Amino acid sequence: MSATLTDLLIAHGIAKHFGSREVLRGIDLSVPAQSITVILGTNGAGKTTLLRILGLLDPADAGTVTYDGIIAEESSITYSTPLTGPAYDRRTLTLRRQMMLAFQHPVAFSGSVLSNVTYGLLLRGVGRAEAENRAMAALREAGIDERAHQHASSLSGGESARLSLARALALKPGLLFLDEPSASLDPHGTKVLEDLLLHMRDDLGMTVVVVTQDIFEARRIADQVAFLHEGSIIEQSSRDRFFEQPRDERTRRFLAGDLLVT
Ligand SMILES: Nc1ncnc2c1ncn2[C@@H]1O[C@H](COP(=O)(O)OP(=O)(O)O)[C@@H](O)[C@H]1O
Ligand SMILES: [Mg+2]
Repeated sequence: MSATLTDLLIAHGIAKHFGSREVLRGIDLSVPAQSITVILGTNGAGKTTLLRILGLLDPADAGTVTYDGIIAEESSITYSTPLTGPAYDRRTLTLRRQMMLAFQHPVAFSGSVLSNVTYGLLLRGVGRAEAENRAMAALREAGIDERAHQHASSLSGGESARLSLARALALKPGLLFLDEPSASLDPHGTKVLEDLLLHMRDDLGMTVVVVTQDIFEARRIADQVAFLHEGSIIEQSSRDRFFEQPRDERTRRFLAGDLLVT
């Protein structure tokens, strides 16, 4: 596990209902800075719901999320949920700009692949020429620069995933959330993705939270793993401890390949 000094994000007591259905309960999670945290869990465990709350896209019904030191002018900012109003407040907007969420089925804006990457840079006040240079460099790193002038909607699933990564490389958010990024990738694409995530952590100093169902992927890239099962985090620990000395019986069964069907 790489040495980390601070937790960039601390969630405490997060709960979420949809109608009468309790989808998340009592979620405590900490995300150390400049590390890769993997949230592991099966279909329907609540992974996407949790990611949207941590990324300030949706409010929780209860709980707090503290972001420590990712807004330059504040050392720490805590949101008690539910948040009020769609735009929340100025600090939320500033905080959101330090984050990026990449979804399982990435939504490309209309327009070219290149403009999908320059868009966020232009919004942040980067000049057009520099934005295009940075965007092309990011597309090259993500291995889709040959598609730069193609319409984004014409990309395959795997290419769209690379486009999401190129956006992240260009914007370099302090905190990057990825929802099942390798789900639509072949082994080569997965290797490119995982290498880029390690590069973001090691060379760009980014903090990454990755949701996956893939135990092997977690083992390859995680510094720490949180196992989300039926809306609760059953276990969170360093990668080695998680895989070598899992404490919870359900974690042991999941790692052994048992289907945790209830
Ligand atoms: N907007 C919503 N309205 C109602 N139920 C939802 C909504 N979003 C998610 N759910 C339900 O919450 C549960 C967790 O969903 P989700 O967070 O997408 O799980 P995961 O990403 O782990 O597969 C699922 O049973 C899903 O059907
Ligand atoms: Mg999901």
